Amino acid sequence: MAPPHAMMVALAMLVQICATVEVLSSGGVEAAGQGAAAHFGLDRRNLLANGLGLTPPMGWNTYNHFHWTISEKIIRETADAMVSSGLAALGYQYINLDDAWAERQRDSAGNLVANATTFPAGIKGLADYVHAKGLKLGIYSDAGNLTCSKLQPGSLGYEEQDAKTFASWEIDFLKYDNCHTDGTSPQVRYPIMSKALLKTGRPIFFSLCEWGVEDPATWGPGVGNSWRTTGDIADNWERMTERADKNDKWASYAGPGGWNDPDMLEVGNGGMTTEEYRSHFSIWALAKAPLILGCDIRSMDLDTHQILSNSEVIAVNQDKLGVQGKKVKKDGDLEVWAGPLSQKRVVVVLWNRGSSPAKVAANFSDIGVPPFALVDVRDLWAHTTEAKVKEQISADLDPHACKMYIIIQK
Ligand SMILES: *[C@@H]1O[C@H](CO)[C@@H](O)[C@H](O)[C@H]1NC(C)=O
Ligand SMILES: *[C@@H]1O[C@H](CO)[C@@H](O)[C@H](O)[C@H]1NC(C)=O
Ligand SMILES: *[C@@H]1O[C@H](CO)[C@@H](O)[C@H](O)[C@H]1NC(C)=O
Repeated sequence: MAPPHAMMVALAMLVQICATVEVLSSGGVEAAGQGAAAHFGLDRRNLLANGLGLTPPMGWNTYNHFHWTISEKIIRETADAMVSSGLAALGYQYINLDDAWAERQRDSAGNLVANATTFPAGIKGLADYVHAKGLKLGIYSDAGNLTCSKLQPGSLGYEEQDAKTFASWEIDFLKYDNCHTDGTSPQVRYPIMSKALLKTGRPIFFSLCEWGVEDPATWGPGVGNSWRTTGDIADNWERMTERADKNDKWASYAGPGGWNDPDMLEVGNGGMTTEEYRSHFSIWALAKAPLILGCDIRSMDLDTHQILSNSEVIAVNQDKLGVQGKKVKKDGDLEVWAGPLSQKRVVVVLWNRGSSPAKVAANFSDIGVPPFALVDVRDLWAHTTEAKVKEQISADLDPHACKMYIIIQK
C-alpha cells in the first residue's frame, strides 16, 4: 500500500533542501555543484510529486538482451536470479518489462491485456510473484498509437484508462516510449500520462523515453523521475561512449527525484571487453544514471557479476547528495570525470578512451579538492586505500580502461 502521499512529498523536499545546503557548503566540483544547487532551487517548485527516485533507480529491463521476445517465464526466473545472485540485496529492485508484453488488440472495454500465450498468469499474477520476492514490477507503454514493435497498442488517448490498469495490477514503474505518435510535442503528450499516474494514488516511477529529442532535462523534472537524454544504446564501445558524452551535457539538471538517463546498461551482453564494461558501469554510476541491468542475469559470468555487484561503485550512484558527476578534463582520448559526494568526498574516474596504454592524471584543482589537502584515496575497483599528500592523482591505464577513486579529505 502507498505511504501517505503528502508525507512522501515532504520527505522528498526535505532531502532536497539538505542536499542543496551540502552542495553549497562543500565547494565540491565547482561547476557541477553550482549547477546542481541552482537546479535544486528550481526542483523545489517543479518536482514531480510522487516521492520516488530520491536516488537513481536500480533494476533490470528485458529489452537490451531479449528485445521483443519476452515471457512470464523469463521474468520469473530473472526475479529468482536477482535474489539468488545477491544483486537484490545490493539495491537492484525493479524488474521491468519492455515492449511486446501485450496482445495486439485492447479488450472490448478498451483495456490493455497481456499476451495470453506468453503471460498466462497475467500481469497481476506476475506482479504478485515479483512482489513476494521483495522486488518491484515495471511495465512499458508508448505515447503514441502503437509501441515501437507495433505489436501492441500505445497509450495515446488512453492515458487515464491505462494508468488505472497499471495501478490495478500493482505496477511500480512505467517506461514510456515515443514511437508512432500524432506528431505533437512530447511536452504535450508526456504530462498527460504523468498526471494520470499521479491520479491513481499509487507511486509509480515514471521513466520518460522520448530519446532526448526536446531536451527533456529542461522540463522533465516536473513530469517524470528520469528522462532519456539520448537515442538507444547498443552493445558496443562507440554507442556506449556517445551516450555518456551526450548525457554529460545535461549534468546540472539531475538531482534527487529526477535523473538524466543515458539508457540502460549493456554490461554482460558480450559486445564489449571486461575493461569496457567496467568503464561503462563506472561512468553510469558517477553520472547518477539509472542502473537498469540489460543482460541475462540468469546466466551471467563471473566478470559480469563482479562488475554489477561492486557495492562501492553502487554507493557512488546512490549517494544521498545526488549530484551528477561530469567530464572535468579532456586531453585527446585521456579524460577525467569527477563529482562531489556527501561528506565532502569527491569521486573521480580516470579514463583512457584511446587505443594504446596511457597515463591519465588530474591535479586536485581539476577535481575540486583543495591543493595539498591531506586525503585518503580509495580505489573502488581494487578495494584499497592509500594516504596521499601530493596534489595530483594518476594512473597507467590499458586501452579503454578506467580507474575509479573516492578522495576523502582528512
Ligand atoms: C503473443 O505471443 C505469441 C507466442 O510467442 C506470439 O506468437 C504472438 O505474436 C504474440 N502476440 C503479440 C501481439 O505480440
Ligand atoms: C491514432 O488512433 C486514433 C484513433 O484511435 C486515430 O484517430 C488517429 O488517426 C491515429 N493516429 C495515427 C497517427 O495513426
Ligand atoms: C598540474 O598543475 C601544474 C601546475 O599548474 C601543471 O604544470 C601540470 O601540468 C598539471 N598537471 C596536470 C596533470 O594537469
